[in-house]
Amino acid sequence: MKTSGGSDAAKRAAGESAAEAVEDGAVVGLGTGSTAAHAIRAIGRQVDAGLDVHGVPTSYESRELATEVGVPLTTLDEVETVDLAIDGADQFSGPHLVKGGGAAHAREKIVDAAANRLLVVADPSKAADQLDHPIPVEVLPDARTTAADAVRALGGSPTLRAAERKDGPVVTDNGNLVLDCEFGTIPAPAELAADLAGTPGVVAHGLFVGMADEIHVGGDDGVDVLTF
Ligand code: A5P
Repeated sequence: MKTSGGSDAAKRAAGESAAEAVEDGAVVGLGTGSTAAHAIRAIGRQVDAGLDVHGVPTSYESRELATEVGVPLTTLDEVETVDLAIDGADQFSGPHLVKGGGAAHAREKIVDAAANRLLVVADPSKAADQLDHPIPVEVLPDARTTAADAVRALGGSPTLRAAERKDGPVVTDNGNLVLDCEFGTIPAPAELAADLAGTPGVVAHGLFVGMADEIHVGGDDGVDVLTF
């Protein structure tokens, strides 16, 4: 369920705006998706210009791109601090996010939560008054049926994410499956997040409650920066 409603120009403006916050010597979480990719490319250009930066990738995709554009990489095991993370979102409402359109939300949540600051990059199509995007829930393969039952008991409607150009389901970078869970409008994201996190076999869900420190929203006429 990859969402990409906005224009590439808007995504690029957002990504490049957030990349400007990267300072010399920083350790930066490198998010996943088409908007975060613009930030990674911008950081690559900063490295070419002499900036000393190390990136912590959140997915196979972000690792490959960072390598391609010359961003030196590290891991959470090797650093004491992640100064900031720059990551995309499928939807945002205030500082609350839905992520996981690219099935990378488990590693994204680890890195984004470890960072001192999370800068979200988005185009205006991602804004919502209340979250209502389906929540991606990564589950251990053995928990596919029981976790789906638990989601139904919480009032949700789960759909196993199917792969494109491969028969069968999406398998995450961690070897797990993804249930896209439709809950309609989500008036209390923290409660739903706790319920999903407490479900046996759930590795990570795509609700990032209160995690954004800034949201850089790219548009045709510049970038709005929302701060929390
Ligand atoms: C990856 O799993 C997601 O969390 C992405 O960060 C999210 O889907 C945003 O991607 P786009 O910037 O491509 O819309």
